[in-house]
Amino acid sequence: MIDLPAAPLVLDVTGADIPGEATQLRDRGPLVPVVLPGGIRAWAVTDPNVLRELFVDWRVSKDAHRHWPTFIAGKVPPDWPLISWVSVRNMFTAYGKDHQRLRKLIGPAFTSRRIAVLRPQIGQITTDLLDGLAAQPADAVVDLREEYAAQVPLRVITALMGVPADLQSRLRVCVDEIFSTVPRRHPQDTFTEMVDILATLVARRRADPGGDMTSLLISHRDDDTDRLTEEELLHTLLLVITAGYETTVNLIDQAIYQLLTRPGRLAQLRAGAYTWSALVEETLRYAPPVANLPLRYAVTDIDIADQRIKAGDAILACFAAANRDPHLHAPDPDEFDPTRPTREHLSFGYGPHFCLGAPLARLEAAIALPALFDRFPDMTMAAPPDGVETLDSFISHGHRHLPARLTEPVHTDTGPAESSL
Ligand code: HEM
Repeated sequence: MIDLPAAPLVLDVTGADIPGEATQLRDRGPLVPVVLPGGIRAWAVTDPNVLRELFVDWRVSKDAHRHWPTFIAGKVPPDWPLISWVSVRNMFTAYGKDHQRLRKLIGPAFTSRRIAVLRPQIGQITTDLLDGLAAQPADAVVDLREEYAAQVPLRVITALMGVPADLQSRLRVCVDEIFSTVPRRHPQDTFTEMVDILATLVARRRADPGGDMTSLLISHRDDDTDRLTEEELLHTLLLVITAGYETTVNLIDQAIYQLLTRPGRLAQLRAGAYTWSALVEETLRYAPPVANLPLRYAVTDIDIADQRIKAGDAILACFAAANRDPHLHAPDPDEFDPTRPTREHLSFGYGPHFCLGAPLARLEAAIALPALFDRFPDMTMAAPPDGVETLDSFISHGHRHLPARLTEPVHTDTGPAESSL
């Protein structure tokens, strides 16, 4: 009998079972064809070594305007849910020298050393939020996704970027839509509104510059050296605000969820069997905040993993699959275990596009998580683990709500909690 190749897997836009889908993809091989919304074809990369190889290969681009014939030919409909991911013009989608130019403009502001100075400010943000939660009745059920996991990154990124309060709620709605693969409104409208809000932000910071990163980028734009076009300025703001918000919300959300649904792991953490940093890294491995990353394109034919990726083919990075590599994480890749010998993961990417905000995301989680669990040591989930719904997305890997019963807070007069990193 002839062994017919399986039909390409159609990715589930509802993201109902990201780990299960990742297993299915990995079982098919290191590099497998998948169908994205709108019938768009791509290669899904499920193997960490193949991913690393492709991420540093000059024959792989993120620039759809130059290297994705399907997009250039107008075959990607404007209402495609992933349109914002491929059509923007910033470092995320730039190739070669353009990428270096755009990344250099704000890269230096995001090094671990530059980010470390934000520690007291992030500590104060978490203390303010925890004080607010502690003021609620002891038996109240709170949504920790909305009232904590989302608020920490939101307050940090809006302070860093100088986003005034009156623009924040509209921005949040747009960011949520961009990360959803079941959009509630026309994706083009979301994109247009996002750019419109950012244009307002730029106009205000131009008139009244501050020490924030928007003002820094405007100064690069306005210094007459042609280093940044107005469109690139707006789209870079879009990138940093979008990337800097929802991803970190998912990280904090997932870490809280893993601990609350695994009391044994929480007890081990408290007993010193592993550190908060190990918790953060294992969460990144086990439940990557970006489960699948759109998109890259082959600049020429590439022979890899016994397949030929043809020039112009689209490539999807499946971090959810690669992070549970059965060889690297033997014998139990599907177990959440912060004490495992290696918590290696690709959740921040690899190579020239490696996440610029990784030090900031790690710092936020390292401050926010111990502060929460120290303040509410007896906190419990207020829903069965499988009763907590996931986001409508195969990209964004988090929960819609995280209901928890906080119980009595521990009162501290010692100021913002420090992590044991
Ligand atoms: C847990 C939180 C985060 C995760 C999981 C995450 C993940 C990622 C991933 C997977 C990429 C793409 C890498 C690639 O294409 O190879 C990326 C790029 C990027 N991230 Fe993050 N990110 C997080 C937080 C942040 C934060 C807090 C910021 C900024 C405030 C940020 C800014 C960026 C930027 C600017 C890029 C584009 C880099 C480039 O293309 O050169 N990210 N991130």
